[in-house]
Amino acid sequence: MPVRQVRDATAADARACTGIYAPYVTDTAVTFEADPPSVPEMALRIEGAQRRHAWLVLEEDGEVVGYAYAGPFKERAAYRWSCEVSVYLAPTRHGTGGGRALYEALLARLTERGYRMAAAGMTQPNEASARLHAALGFEPVGTFRAVGWKHGAWRDVTWVQRPLRDATAAPGADPT
Ligand SMILES: CC(C)(COP(=O)(O)OP(=O)(O)OC[C@H]1O[C@@H](n2cnc3c(N)ncnc32)[C@H](O)[C@@H]1OP(=O)(O)O)[C@@H](O)C(=O)NCCC(=O)NCCS
Repeated sequence: MPVRQVRDATAADARACTGIYAPYVTDTAVTFEADPPSVPEMALRIEGAQRRHAWLVLEEDGEVVGYAYAGPFKERAAYRWSCEVSVYLAPTRHGTGGGRALYEALLARLTERGYRMAAAGMTQPNEASARLHAALGFEPVGTFRAVGWKHGAWRDVTWVQRPLRDATAAPGADPT
């Protein structure tokens, strides 16, 4: 069994994260980006996520094999306790519990920081992602039909959401 560890990402993880992400950009509609980000751009994304939300990596035997992060759900002030989450595993590691390990740590961190709701959008179909989100307590919100065009087809995106703590009580201080 490999030694597995989820830890905070730093800019030094940008190359590994880019390597995991790029094939999903070029070969799939899982993400709606058209061109893979450069390593410096990925480093900026990691640092940006770490400032207000979180970016975690999964290491196996010292090698980064996946990552999960959060960012703002929407910019307007009243949304500031809500965030959007995402997770990517190297294809060789699919189905070995890495997605769950990353998300459990990510959701705990976001709760700790004061966030109240996590949402995720999944290009259809994506059985693995649907099952991962359902397993972690995300509930369906709805599906935007034909909301993106990629690789020669209109794509539907299904959104799911999960409360991070008591969803009815008034929020306390802003997330830190
Ligand atoms: C989606 C993804 C992150 C899931 O991570 P993973 O490490 O493969 O998932 P896990 O092994 O942690 O499994 C989590 C749950 O989903 C289920 N699951 C995972 N892959 C599945 C599949 N292909 N079919 C059915 N169920 C699946 C598991 O059975 C498990 O359920 P359980 O905990 O109730 O037993 C991974 O497949 C991936 O990186 N996919 C490509 C990128 C992507 O789609 N990211 C999400 C963007 S919205």
